[in-house]
Amino acid sequence: MAVINMDVARNNVPRVGFLDIPLDPSLDLFKEIERLKKEKNAILLAHYYQEPDIQDVADYIGDSLGLAQQAEKTKADIIVFAGVHFMAETAKILNPTKKVLLPDLNAGCSLADSAPADLFKAFKEQHPNHLVISYINCTADIKALSDIICTSSNAEKIIESVPADQPIIFAPDKNLGAYLNKKTGRNMVLWNGACMVHEIFSLEKITKLKVRHPEAKLIAHPECEDPLLRIADFVGSTTQLLKYTQQDSANSFIVATETGILHQMQKSSPHKTFIPAPPDNSCACNDCPHMKLNTLEKLYLCMEYETPEILMDEALRVASKRPIDRMLEISKAAGLGG
Ligand code: 13P
Ligand code: SF4
Repeated sequence: MAVINMDVARNNVPRVGFLDIPLDPSLDLFKEIERLKKEKNAILLAHYYQEPDIQDVADYIGDSLGLAQQAEKTKADIIVFAGVHFMAETAKILNPTKKVLLPDLNAGCSLADSAPADLFKAFKEQHPNHLVISYINCTADIKALSDIICTSSNAEKIIESVPADQPIIFAPDKNLGAYLNKKTGRNMVLWNGACMVHEIFSLEKITKLKVRHPEAKLIAHPECEDPLLRIADFVGSTTQLLKYTQQDSANSFIVATETGILHQMQKSSPHKTFIPAPPDNSCACNDCPHMKLNTLEKLYLCMEYETPEILMDEALRVASKRPIDRMLEISKAAGLGG
């Protein structure tokens, strides 16, 4: 018997929550998910940080920009989002008439959580005349308080689209913001947020690893802290990191981002070696606990029963869409994304 729990959305909209149903262990979940996709005209979008099984059954695997672009253009009736809440919410903002499903509604994001809307509103009021550029890893409430959204793939282009003398607030990631200040020569005011996964890497252990593997290139996501980014051979979004490993002549890479990306790296370059950058303790902290809440079982259940679903207040949806549209327009003009 299906047990359906009520849950409260991040925007205080009640919604139907996670299904707690014993699964027949003989079910071939890969086949079942494929069947449900066809029967329901559903598209399965997955982020690179999802577990390998989910990536293997997805229709599209990508970074935050690619996923938003796919969500914008899909003709499917249902978008199943194997990622975290802000990603599925972005898909819903772009698709008010489609059903958007997220296998586990508790799949949040430490960066999004680091910027509560009331505090951010007060921060914004302290900086009048500033334009707000927000990283897509934020809630719809923060998006609604922003002028343009960016991802790690397009942030430089988005910043460059703003006149040089225009003061800017960048939120919520202080590490990405500091990296972008260096790259663009701007002096953006930074909100003090960070990603729990990308802040956990041990510089000391990575330095030792580089000594043991002098041939390996160190590649890092810009959500990492400055001392790590300084010693990286390449810094980029997940898609940019993946492309780099495909195109660069090196045969081994130390990868400073969430471990899920290693699946696609290994798949597309089977002869190359990928070493996950070590965290500063012995836990698996470079696995994102939010991303990894989604499992193949939950994915199947959410497609079968069409819940949990992302539901949004319409006024908030409209207000948060404006800065996303701006990002998509600038990205299209610059030929960015996939
Ligand atoms: P990208 O995939 O856009 O690089 O973002 C990484 C990330 O942390 C998503 O939560
Ligand atoms: Fe958020 Fe970091 Fe997890 Fe990405 S990896 S979803 S930024 S907590």
